[in-house]
Amino acid sequence: MIGRVHLDAVRRAGAPVAGISASSPARAKEAAAALGVAQAFDSSEELVTSDEVDVVHICTPNESHARLAELALRAGKHVVCEKPLTTSADTADALARLAADSGLVAAVPFVYRYHPMAAEARARVADGRAGEVRLVHGHYLQDWLSEPGDTNWRVDAAAGGPSRAFADIGSHWCDLVEWVTGHRIAEVTALTSTLPRDGGVPDTEDVVHLLLRTDRGATGTLTVSQVSPGRKNRLWFEVDGARTSLAFDQENPESLFVGSRGENAAVLRDPGLLSPDAARLSVVPGGHPMGYLDCFAAFVRDVHAAIRDGAAAVLRHPTFDDAARMVRLTEAVLTSAADRSWKEVS
Ligand SMILES: NC(=O)c1ccc[n+]([C@@H]2O[C@H](COP(=O)([O-])OP(=O)(O)OC[C@H]3O[C@@H](n4cnc5c(N)ncnc54)[C@H](O)[C@@H]3O)[C@@H](O)[C@H]2O)c1
Repeated sequence: MIGRVHLDAVRRAGAPVAGISASSPARAKEAAAALGVAQAFDSSEELVTSDEVDVVHICTPNESHARLAELALRAGKHVVCEKPLTTSADTADALARLAADSGLVAAVPFVYRYHPMAAEARARVADGRAGEVRLVHGHYLQDWLSEPGDTNWRVDAAAGGPSRAFADIGSHWCDLVEWVTGHRIAEVTALTSTLPRDGGVPDTEDVVHLLLRTDRGATGTLTVSQVSPGRKNRLWFEVDGARTSLAFDQENPESLFVGSRGENAAVLRDPGLLSPDAARLSVVPGGHPMGYLDCFAAFVRDVHAAIRDGAAAVLRHPTFDDAARMVRLTEAVLTSAADRSWKEVS
């Protein structure tokens, strides 16, 4: 799924695609032919160490991320690695340190940061229009694993890691809300549940309910589910400040709800009226809807600019440090749910 999205974004960023790999040499050849890529590597190990490659995009199942990202960094490649960065906090921290020491660009596609109206929400918190953030709340709901027969490699902890719903989609919500508010989630308590399905009860969670407190004293709640019929990618958050509340819906990303005691409004995406970063991300005029693929393209454009231009580029992409933080948060969620207590997030 996401490999195609990366490929599209790399092409839109104007970078040549040196080659792709897959789960076997035969599948790599098939995929290269289907996707119009000139070269199929026999293995991902060969690809990430090839002299022909400057930037590696890792779009494989979660358990392989740490190994491939480490190999790529040690081979001197810039890396875009899918989330979750790794399946344990220790490996995530080690990888983030390796990336920092290498001086290479190491990014993770928490791409919802690239919706213009999410950037507008961040600007309105940063410039004080929202007032001091008091609470954050919302959900990320999907339905694609809601039937007893539904399955995927993510359901199996050996391939996906010990957390499924939270690592897969809850981490997106938390990264986005931390980025919009500038707060860090400092303390959590979680309740998880897993539904029986064909083949027994999986060892990864379907649902997470989270209570949280941030480092700057805001409180919040989050519900994450992959078993909510009719909900496809319902990532919705609200940030309630002292002056205004801001709400963003990933499935309707062309507007931002701005509420106050005096007046409620849906602010529409119009580059002429938005904050500078939101206007920069608006690559088409208002009224021509933008969406997920545009976020991805903007993320890759920024990452490739960071590689090319260094500090002169707009440096706002999610890094391995950000992603390692989300892995630590995921671990806190699981341990909190297991022993029914509050956990601090380092
Ligand atoms: N950032 C986002 O918005 C986003 C969205 C979807 C998925 N993801 C992440 O992307 C990753 C892939 O998810 P997906 O939904 O595309 O899964 P997928 O199952 O659709 O695709 C994974 C592909 O990797 C191939 N593969 C397995 N081992 C490989 C190897 N060693 N080398 C090369 N290819 C190999 C599989 O055959 C499969 O084709 C996951 O880590 C997931 O969390 C991120």
